[in-house]
Amino acid sequence: MTLNTLFSEQKLGDLTLPHRIVMAPLTRSRSSQPGDIPNDMNVEYYKQRSSAAMIISEATQISPQGKGYAFTPGIYSEEQIAGWKKITDEVHAQGGRIFMQLWHVGRVSHSSLQPGNFLPVAPSAIAVSEGQAFTYEGMQDFETPRALDESEIPAIVTQYRQAAINAKQAGFDGVEIHAANGYLLDQFLKDGTNKRTDIYGGKIENRSRFVLDVTQAVTDVWGGDRVGIRISPTGTFNSMSDSNPQALYNYLVEKLNQFNLAYLHVVEELGLSEESTDNFDFNALRSIFNSAYMANGGYTGDTAEQSLTNDRSDFIAFGVPFISNPDLPERIRQGADLNEADPNTFYGGDAKGYLDYPSLNQQAASA
Ligand code: PHB
Repeated sequence: MTLNTLFSEQKLGDLTLPHRIVMAPLTRSRSSQPGDIPNDMNVEYYKQRSSAAMIISEATQISPQGKGYAFTPGIYSEEQIAGWKKITDEVHAQGGRIFMQLWHVGRVSHSSLQPGNFLPVAPSAIAVSEGQAFTYEGMQDFETPRALDESEIPAIVTQYRQAAINAKQAGFDGVEIHAANGYLLDQFLKDGTNKRTDIYGGKIENRSRFVLDVTQAVTDVWGGDRVGIRISPTGTFNSMSDSNPQALYNYLVEKLNQFNLAYLHVVEELGLSEESTDNFDFNALRSIFNSAYMANGGYTGDTAEQSLTNDRSDFIAFGVPFISNPDLPERIRQGADLNEADPNTFYGGDAKGYLDYPSLNQQAASA
């Protein structure tokens, strides 16, 4: 199969990307402690992957409270900004582009990871019911989070705004709002986790309020052209559910149009939990949205090309294949074999399973 569309240029906001293969955000839990600071190992990792049409950084907490896993990086301190600047400088030196994914985990955390060892926060006091938290003391059961007071929410919006400012200072080309996969903004959107009775809960308009306020704040800083948003309408990872995802997301995406965003990034399948996408019409979101649609979840070169040529998407984000194939675009272009990823080294640890997956050139040199 020829992959002509996959390897054609396409505009994303005011940028022109050289092809359609985006590196999806991937939590790798390898920042320096204490302080959640990006380090030289992280610089090398992103450098190796800079042939992506664009890199979306690993999810990065906007505040100490936004952290939910050991060793994930932040974007709220001077040291973190300086660490990220080395990464963006290196990606740019390689001719690449990189957006930062802004993250607040909400309830998907543990008191041992939280400032003051307070409980994690959420729209409602409902615990994640499956899985465990990845803490410095090992895997621990999730706790019942504290429901945020209505008065606390504007301060979190301000933290997103400041994180967006910090990302600019760190040299990123733009930012992606993480509203997917069961983290704080997704917890507000979906009615399985949001049982609030104030202006942030109940009807769809209210459950969408927080994410729209965040989008306003972040686009104030960057302009819509340099902002994307990631959603997972059918996702069940982190014990998520909604009674009517189609109505919720049709509404949300329609409202997002006012910000003239660069792209809508849709997790159609995460692969970390059971989910059914049978009854969800992703193409409806594409029709409603006024800008680029980035699809994610289990794509290959061929299915990516089909999605593009069938006018289902404009970009395809690849996650796990980028972990084990730093030169993924070139491998797809050549139809070369892909290295298999080792899940044992996805989260935490050293350069093993992080920096040592070979490129085709390295394989040829050692053959
Ligand atoms: C994870 O650490 O497993 C993780 C983090 C962010 C996501 C999805 C999964 O969006």
